Amino acid sequence: MSRRLTFEVFRYNPEDPDAVPHTDTFEIDETPYMSLYIALNRLREEQDPGLQFDFACRSAICGSCGMMVNGRPALACRTLTAELPDTIKLYPLPVFRLIGDLSVDTGTWFRQMAERTEAWVHQRLAFDPEAQEARMSDETSQKIYESDRCIECGCCVASCGVANINSDFLGAAGLNRMARFMLDPRDDRDNSDWFEVIATDEGVFGCIGMMACEDMCPKELPLLEVHAYLRRRMLATGLSKQDAD
Ligand code: SF4
Ligand code: FES
Repeated sequence: MSRRLTFEVFRYNPEDPDAVPHTDTFEIDETPYMSLYIALNRLREEQDPGLQFDFACRSAICGSCGMMVNGRPALACRTLTAELPDTIKLYPLPVFRLIGDLSVDTGTWFRQMAERTEAWVHQRLAFDPEAQEARMSDETSQKIYESDRCIECGCCVASCGVANINSDFLGAAGLNRMARFMLDPRDDRDNSDWFEVIATDEGVFGCIGMMACEDMCPKELPLLEVHAYLRRRMLATGLSKQDAD
């Protein structure tokens, strides 16, 4: 027999000066293999066409459906209702600007992070159209590929105690992005360039080690390894700077 599911959904339109944050309660019958994506679409189609939430790919690729599910950040498209109790509480991800109901603006946060960290390959050499293609070892390309699997869903940022109280903290996604370019042999930035951005309270030394980021990452990125890699490199840079002073 199928379960009757109760959804308690956060509702608020920040554009409406008269709006008051509250939760609305909905009920639907669970169907086999129902994901939160399916459930929310049914709620919108059958009960409340004004319900706001984001989806694009439905397959854990676009990163747009992150939300708090019974207190934990998760992708709605890959969360099955069968994994959850009869009552499901849905809230928007914290840290990011609220657009409305369950919809948040992760794009602005990630664009600002990319601009702050200059998340693109930096080359000091002038462009040479005759240059030969630079080869990269399989091992290096695999490491870069691993970091590039991030879908920018924001679940790690939302789960981070530091990111929740310090809006300048780069968060696990930002640190992972920095590591991706540090690993890239085509990027000419050196340790002292990275040091200014990463070896700060807004960078890797702001992390207080709760490590919810790795637990919550739906792509299972090795975020603890990334933190350890950055700390090692920044400590080595700091010590060599000290010796030179
Ligand atoms: Fe999402 Fe994981 Fe990327 Fe964080 S590191 S934004 S949790 S995919
Ligand atoms: Fe794209 Fe969920 S809809 S990640």
